[in-house]
Amino acid sequence: MRKKLLLGNWKMNKTPSEAKEFASSCEEMVKKAIDNNVDVGVAPTFVCLCPVVKYAPKGLIVSAQNCSQYDHGAYTGEVSIPMLKEVGVTYCIIGHSERREYDAETSEKCNAKIKALLAAEITPVYCCGESLATYEEGKTNEWVAEQIKAGMKDLTPEQAAKVVIAYEPIWAIGTGKSATKETAEETIGFIRKTLEGMFGAVAQDIRILYGGSVKPENIHDYMSMEDIDGALVGGASLKLDSYKALIDNLIG
Ligand code: PGA
Repeated sequence: MRKKLLLGNWKMNKTPSEAKEFASSCEEMVKKAIDNNVDVGVAPTFVCLCPVVKYAPKGLIVSAQNCSQYDHGAYTGEVSIPMLKEVGVTYCIIGHSERREYDAETSEKCNAKIKALLAAEITPVYCCGESLATYEEGKTNEWVAEQIKAGMKDLTPEQAAKVVIAYEPIWAIGTGKSATKETAEETIGFIRKTLEGMFGAVAQDIRILYGGSVKPENIHDYMSMEDIDGALVGGASLKLDSYKALIDNLIG
């Protein structure tokens, strides 16, 4: 049985004091998620990781939004996995479409980061998803299969089972135009088949999230689908009330 996961991707939002405010006010919500067997977490910016780890209630997963594949060295502006590990980060988003678009993040680079995170026992949340043009051409499956094959290349089945995948159609991110639950389920089912082709039966243990304009009003629809194991949520994860409503509706 795959455990559900709700991860809030804060992107480039919140100052450290705002992040502290959220972390120190979310105890009840985190407890509710945990009591209902749901993993719950947030992915703040690098500078907000320390305050969130410090003020978060027990059980709140703290995720980074990116990392370097290198341990240390002359990589100006980068943050390494040992640095994240030391501050208490346990998850890390990899290959978000915004990083692929604005920072030339390739699936091959994601693959190196995923391997390095697994070696450090940090859970990678590997993002994939197609553009509107690819969707309209009917080439979604080919596109995501390519991203999955390159990003998950050369992992053992045991390693693959520890990765979380997030399927986020780019046309649904921040647009208010979420994919229907049927479209999301179909592509996520296809991703699971692709993983099965690569890693065998272990694909049934890999958690696959949907992301893209998930809101309190639609999260329950996604969670009712067999292959969807949770959500990666941007805008609707920023305010505590909205995050609480996401949890309530995910559970309810
Ligand atoms: P959104 O972002 O929920 O604001 O659409 C999702 C994401 O990019 O992870």
